[in-house]
Amino acid sequence: MRSSVVASQVGVHSHFGGVVPELASRHHLSGIVPVVCEALTRAGVAHARDCDAIAVTEGPGLVGALLVGVQLARGLACAVERPLYGIHHMEGHLFSAFLGDQDRHAEAFEPHVALLVSGGHTELVHVHGLGDYTILGATRDDAAGEAFDKVAKLLGLGYPGGPIIDRLADEGDPCAYAFPRAMLDRDNFEFSFSGVKTAVLVRVEQAGALSSRAQLADVCASFRRAVVDVLIEKARRAVAKVGVPRLHVVGGVAANRGLRVALEQVAAEDGFALRIPPLRYCGDNAAMIGAAAAARYAAKARADVVVHASLALDDPRIRMS
Ligand code: KG4
Ligand code: ZN
Repeated sequence: MRSSVVASQVGVHSHFGGVVPELASRHHLSGIVPVVCEALTRAGVAHARDCDAIAVTEGPGLVGALLVGVQLARGLACAVERPLYGIHHMEGHLFSAFLGDQDRHAEAFEPHVALLVSGGHTELVHVHGLGDYTILGATRDDAAGEAFDKVAKLLGLGYPGGPIIDRLADEGDPCAYAFPRAMLDRDNFEFSFSGVKTAVLVRVEQAGALSSRAQLADVCASFRRAVVDVLIEKARRAVAKVGVPRLHVVGGVAANRGLRVALEQVAAEDGFALRIPPLRYCGDNAAMIGAAAAARYAAKARADVVVHASLALDDPRIRMS
């Protein structure tokens, strides 16, 4: 990877406690050209014509923001006469496991189980190869990152909630409160995180305002442990069932310290290989989209773009042929 530039809109949306779609597209529009120019400069690329191909996220996501990216990429690809690859956002995350580790890129599509945990998705996927994915199970309601964000909001902690809860949780007692571990008794790979969120809400209402930082830290630690326990247990069962001893954990929530520590322990106990991206590549970034496109380009995949708000990773459109 030659460069990675990330423009954050956290400052724009934090005031509202969540992403405001219209503001997201507007700021995307004003930010995108400077970011592309900076990425080229940092990579030492004098002109976009020096690139072999152009890549862009085609979905899933907020259509307004996706359209901004796709229209810019279409214009650029047309101007420099290069192929344009529309990449599924979650396929991009799958490639993030290899960013910063160039020598191992070839391993990216050895069969493995992937736990995709972000603000919009929580799913376990059997990765057979590039473009060849079987979704083993997904969340029935909130995604894990969404649960972190909602719990942070109801605790009055700010946005985005994942990193804030994660930091506070380090100070608390994870056994202080017994929050539910939904779906653990089911022999499937589905998740549900709306119940644990409601359990935190009930706890807060019973206690009135959580007055001390120590109390707040205990709630955060207990909530984090409940979410992590379910993610880990389902992931280890998926690895055992699929019979491929390799787990990749990607997406914004893969930055969670509690999750990372617990994963290392379980991987050592169960004897499977574990890959988690470096922290800076867990959250959304363009480098992972570029990496996925580079693999498709190398495999001579069809280059085209169709914007989609929600398309499953195992949709036939994602397949290589
Ligand atoms: O992959 P991502 O950057 O964007 C989406 O595709 O959704 O993931 C963002 C999500 C947010 O919900 C955010 O709160 C969560 O990842 N997140 C975390 C942590 N850092 C980011 N959740 C838990 N612990 C963290 N340290
Ligand atoms: Zn993402």
